Amino acid sequence: MKSLTIRNLSKTYFDLYAGTNHTAIHDVSLEVAEGDFVAVVGPSGCGKSTILNMIAGFIPLSGGEILVGGRPVKGPGPDRGVVFQSFALFPWKTVLENVAFGPKMRGVGKAEREAIAREYLALAKLTEAANRYPNELSGGMQQRVGVVRALANNPDVLLMDEPFASVDAQTRMTLQEELTRIWQEKRPTVLFITHDVGEAVFLANRVVVLSKGRVLDDIGIDLPRPRSWDALNEDADFKALSNRVLQLVRSA
Ligand SMILES: Nc1ncnc2c1ncn2[C@@H]1O[C@H](COP(=O)(O)OP(=O)(O)OP(=O)(O)O)[C@@H](O)[C@H]1O
Ligand SMILES: [Mg+2]
Repeated sequence: MKSLTIRNLSKTYFDLYAGTNHTAIHDVSLEVAEGDFVAVVGPSGCGKSTILNMIAGFIPLSGGEILVGGRPVKGPGPDRGVVFQSFALFPWKTVLENVAFGPKMRGVGKAEREAIAREYLALAKLTEAANRYPNELSGGMQQRVGVVRALANNPDVLLMDEPFASVDAQTRMTLQEELTRIWQEKRPTVLFITHDVGEAVFLANRVVVLSKGRVLDDIGIDLPRPRSWDALNEDADFKALSNRVLQLVRSA
């Protein structure tokens, strides 16, 4: 695991339809310490995915720099694991093969990569599903496979863009509880993007509020761990923090 540093990041898109430039990100700086869990929230269109896509190396920066473990990012790489809203599993591979794919690409031998995959599947309570194909799983299970597939590749930084947006509310809460548990056990460095304020406060140690391509505020979340919805749903501190972040997002 490594730290993630974003310094004076900016992004200007050329809008093909209007024929003009549009600045989506203005001078964003952000530090995610090694093993930390930071969430970024903000209204639709404020630039969350743009930032994540630049960190992942999918789109070029217009200005500033992005460092992983102190080294500049120069394009996509296995040091950054990415989980999107869409599951993007390989439909022709079993669950086990999907999770073992990253280690396979890194040259890990068959027995070892299958052992790694089984360890992560167990962590996400997916042992039973190891030999199934993605289309035989529910959406929530597919999303869990997506998360552990990224983790099994042992990335320095895990980047997640609304990974639980497409599942029902109950499944979503279960996935959030699992992610906090797995994070506590493995301590990956995580940058998690969501427009769901409760999700951000539940998961993260810090919540960064983004507004029109700028950082509006950065709020520490000192709720105790392990976190569960049973414990936090009615918790006064959780409610107060969520309200504070919500007010900021609404003013963004
Ligand atoms: N490829 C592109 N070309 C031109 N403009 C773009 C492009 N991608 C994003 N934008 C613009 O950049 C701004 C930020 O978009 P982005 O997708 O980063 O927002 P977001 O915060 O992730 O929103 P959402 O919550 O809806 O996912 C928007 O105004 C969007 O229209
Ligand atoms: Mg987005």
